[in-house]
Amino acid sequence: MKTIGILLFIVAGCCHGLVDICPGGEVKKVFGDCVKQHGGNKALITDWIAHKNAEDDNSKCFRTCAMKNCGWFDANGKLKKEVPERSAYALYGGDASKIPQIMEAGKKCLDTIQYDEKNMCNSGENFSRCIMGNCKKCSLNLSAAL
Ligand SMILES: *[C@@H]1O[C@H](CO)[C@@H](O)[C@H](O)[C@H]1NC(C)=O
Ligand SMILES: *[C@@H]1O[C@H](CO)[C@@H](O)[C@H](O)[C@H]1NC(C)=O
Repeated sequence: MKTIGILLFIVAGCCHGLVDICPGGEVKKVFGDCVKQHGGNKALITDWIAHKNAEDDNSKCFRTCAMKNCGWFDANGKLKKEVPERSAYALYGGDASKIPQIMEAGKKCLDTIQYDEKNMCNSGENFSRCIMGNCKKCSLNLSAAL
């Protein structure tokens, strides 16, 4: 039992935090900068935390800005293959048991996302909607990451 406990501890200790959700910068700063760039309303953040769909350009572009500045898009404007993993750690709320299901939803979304070549903001929102929609039962928690 003791060994199992220690093993679990090591596993939990090992991998938590090993995945950088925002390799492009510091999450809080990225969110703050992106809010400023897209109208300055704090609701941009709280609406996302509340899993609301983005309906206007400010809101869609804020979300895309956060993903972009966190380094989730490649040079061609496509989401990188490690995005499902980063998404899982951004949304798991500290409960590691949720990671596999969030990653699975993220992978599905990465395979099916429709990119809007003219307006990248639609692409970011498209992925966000997809993962929130495919993981309704995951109790995604973005606020824990901020
Ligand atoms: C994704 O984007 C495409 C084109 O930009 C759009 O037609 C489609 O409805 C979007 N899907 C979702 C789930 O928002
Ligand atoms: C999300 O995580 C934060 C910080 O860990 C916690 O305070 C909050 O209650 C969680 N929210 C939900 C809806 O679980």
